[in-house]
Amino acid sequence: MEKYVASPSRYAAEDFYQRCGKSGILLPKVSLGLWKNFGEAADFEENRSLLHYAFDQGITHFDLANNYGPPPGAAEERFGRVLASSLAPYRDELFISTKAGYEMWDGPYGNWGSRKSLMSSLDQSLRRMRLEYVDLFYIHRYDPVTPLDETLQALVDIVRAGKALYVGISRWPIEATRYGLQYLRERDVPCLCFQGRLNLLDREVADSGLLDMVHAEGIGFVSFSPLAQGLLTDKYLHGIPADSRMRREASLPESVLTPELLARLQGYNALAQERGETLAQMALRWVLQHQGVTSVIVGAKNQAQLADSLKCVHGAPLTDEEMRRIDI
Ligand SMILES: NC(=O)c1ccc[n+]([C@@H]2O[C@H](COP(=O)([O-])OP(=O)(O)OC[C@H]3O[C@@H](n4cnc5c(N)ncnc54)[C@H](OP(=O)(O)O)[C@@H]3O)[C@@H](O)[C@H]2O)c1
Repeated sequence: MEKYVASPSRYAAEDFYQRCGKSGILLPKVSLGLWKNFGEAADFEENRSLLHYAFDQGITHFDLANNYGPPPGAAEERFGRVLASSLAPYRDELFISTKAGYEMWDGPYGNWGSRKSLMSSLDQSLRRMRLEYVDLFYIHRYDPVTPLDETLQALVDIVRAGKALYVGISRWPIEATRYGLQYLRERDVPCLCFQGRLNLLDREVADSGLLDMVHAEGIGFVSFSPLAQGLLTDKYLHGIPADSRMRREASLPESVLTPELLARLQGYNALAQERGETLAQMALRWVLQHQGVTSVIVGAKNQAQLADSLKCVHGAPLTDEEMRRIDI
């Protein structure tokens, strides 16, 4: 195995970082998520070189969760192996997030948002990634049963214990989020960012006012699945490729690809072509153009996909007229 040395030009791209809300943290406009493509079935060397490539492009933010795999835990395990074998010297240049809140282990404590579950899960994540701390720890989803204060106080105590530098909230409804932001701020552990889904096919966080609310509160927003798991690329325009997520994963069933959706994707693709870019690049630019969005977390399968997506950063902004066409 050749020794990895990071590209000396990794920070050369202009305007690649944005401030996360009103915090001191800058995040890359494009971050890499390890939800899919980093499980045990994936080739380890390919995973490793994709992480190196990402870092060489200036991607400092890597987004994980306890349950990413499959099997759950495998993505953190792999990321830990890459850290240990090559990225460890760059630890202070990396911004690593993980989460807990979805089912992870058997019994009553391996799921949802209790203090017991969050504390145990983070300890497991740290062991799998061979880290002393993560940069950002999220509550992964809203738990309608556990008192919000219990979940939020666990986040506060995790930071106080030095196991995470910052905390974040993912997929909470707007009112619970508003409450959570205040709770955390009053305890001097301000929420760094909200992680939610925003893409051309799912605008709920913008339409509901959540994006504006967190922005007004000085909290960053990072968008997951900005390509709608690959729908917002040219891959499904002429059928379903054998090696696509739609063929492999239950998270993207074939039933979503209705004739209406296909027509919509074709319209978006035509506009992207007029702009001289790929549908993926235009879709990412659309997300990044929203006020308050700090970063899009893409889920690339290989280097070519990530290289394609990264070009969104340098594309021309969408004009008002193009925005109108997109909204039809
Ligand atoms: N907070 C949460 O609850 C939550 C939920 C979901 C995701 N996330 C985070 O968000 C990250 C990204 O989610 P995601 O994987 O759904 O993101 P995505 O970027 O919307 O979709 C990624 C998939 O799109 C395809 N793709 C990506 N770039 C492409 C390109 N340039 N050209 C053609 N195809 C391209 C690939 O599909 P193929 O494999 O078919 O080639 C890839 O696996 C996750 O890894 C995770 O970190 C968080």
